[in-house]
Amino acid sequence: MSGMTIVGAQWGDEGKGKIVDLLSSEVDVVVRFQGGNNAGHTVIVDGKKYVLHVVPSGILHDGKLCIIGNGVVLDPAGFLAEIDALQSLGLDVSPARLKISYKTHLIMPYHKAIDAAREGKSTNKIGTTGRGIGPCYEDKKARTGIRAGDLTDPEILKAKIVRALEEKNVLFTHLYGLPPMDPEQIFADLMAMADRLTPYLADAATLIMDADAAGKRIMFEGAQGVMLDIDHGTYPFVTSSNVVCDNASIGSGVHAGMIGERIAIIKAYTTRVGSGPFPTELFDATGDFLRTQGGEFGATTGRPRRCGWLDIVVLREMSRLCDPTSFAFTKVDVLCGLDTVKICTAYELDGEILRFPPQTPRGMDRVKPVFETMPGWSEDLSQCDGWDSLPMNCRRYIERVEELLGIHASYISVGPDRKQTFRH
Ligand code: GDP
Ligand code: IMO
Ligand code: MG
Repeated sequence: MSGMTIVGAQWGDEGKGKIVDLLSSEVDVVVRFQGGNNAGHTVIVDGKKYVLHVVPSGILHDGKLCIIGNGVVLDPAGFLAEIDALQSLGLDVSPARLKISYKTHLIMPYHKAIDAAREGKSTNKIGTTGRGIGPCYEDKKARTGIRAGDLTDPEILKAKIVRALEEKNVLFTHLYGLPPMDPEQIFADLMAMADRLTPYLADAATLIMDADAAGKRIMFEGAQGVMLDIDHGTYPFVTSSNVVCDNASIGSGVHAGMIGERIAIIKAYTTRVGSGPFPTELFDATGDFLRTQGGEFGATTGRPRRCGWLDIVVLREMSRLCDPTSFAFTKVDVLCGLDTVKICTAYELDGEILRFPPQTPRGMDRVKPVFETMPGWSEDLSQCDGWDSLPMNCRRYIERVEELLGIHASYISVGPDRKQTFRH
């Protein structure tokens, strides 16, 4: 059976959770393959709000198997708090339908402390979510990480914590001016959670491949957005994982042939949280309008999101990296009420016109967006349920984006509720 992979096309918060939830009805298994609880995916079903951080958004549909893949970094305490919150909303988050790969790396208290210390000290803040994501991925690459499977072997677990802290405590005491951390305490705290965590552990890749062999359909749920990809985003203002579609296979432990249909989630304008270049950012009343109309405040940290016009240069880069089969266009309703809407079709840098983001250091900071202006619309879209119900100028805007990208908009989203989406 063919798979389906959902990725964010911009700097995150495109509405991935909402589309994953919607399309979960068409699949049997939903897998998160990268990132951690830096993600915040808000899904609204019949007026009830759910915020997912590391649990796949497919959990809102009964009978779907949800998997946290090896490419994810998992905060044990954060995970338990998240499943408790979901349980209190009436969801089944038992180990029968939610699994964690043995190979998933654990975010440890020292990862969070390092993240906070660096952001506190730095004059060049990345504006991380403070969840310890970067330091955890660093340890994974340094081959000193702790994996979920280590919870089943206290001896190995303890030795790894002791070894990690030999190094980290030098940083805490000599560089960051912090007290050292006690390996015994960290080990004891983790073991206190082990009884609740270990029933979730599974050979995730085999589960996915077996489901596939049994004719079931798999969805891979991306977090963040392509411009936050560690290799291809606006480095160093990125997250620490690969966000592009192809990482769905590596981060789940299956071959690339499983990736299947690739759906990019594109928000009808652009937002970004944290620092870093953002060529189409608006600092005026229109930016405030988008923030207010779009409710652009982070689901994870509550930070106001920076807002700007749609940027085709960024989307062209996403497109050549992910080759989407189609895209879902979200939050189109938010643009209602603007006299004109703008689309950035290229950048200008030192007199040169660029179709793709510049590769030189500081290039992205200096580009000037080249805009195309289109007439806006004032009709409320929240009740629109099909292409023909959209106002003419809105249809023209969507068609122009499709034309510029050469990709079809297969879903249009006109409000936060599951129901406020239609196929195109
Ligand atoms: P994600 O991280 O990509 O899953 O996106 P977030 O959940 O962080 O941010 C998207 C926000 O927009 C959430 O609050 C959603 O409920 C909301 N949302 C999603 N689609 C739409 C839409 O089409 N219109 C409006 N107005 N809100 C939407
Ligand atoms: P979802 O899945 C938006 C941003 C942070 C910061 C940078 C690095 O909800 O779209 P990190 O904590 O990952 O080291 O922070 O990445 N960031 C996100 N921005 N949406 C997200 O996830 C994000 N996850 C990380 O704001 O700029
Ligand atoms: Mg989000």
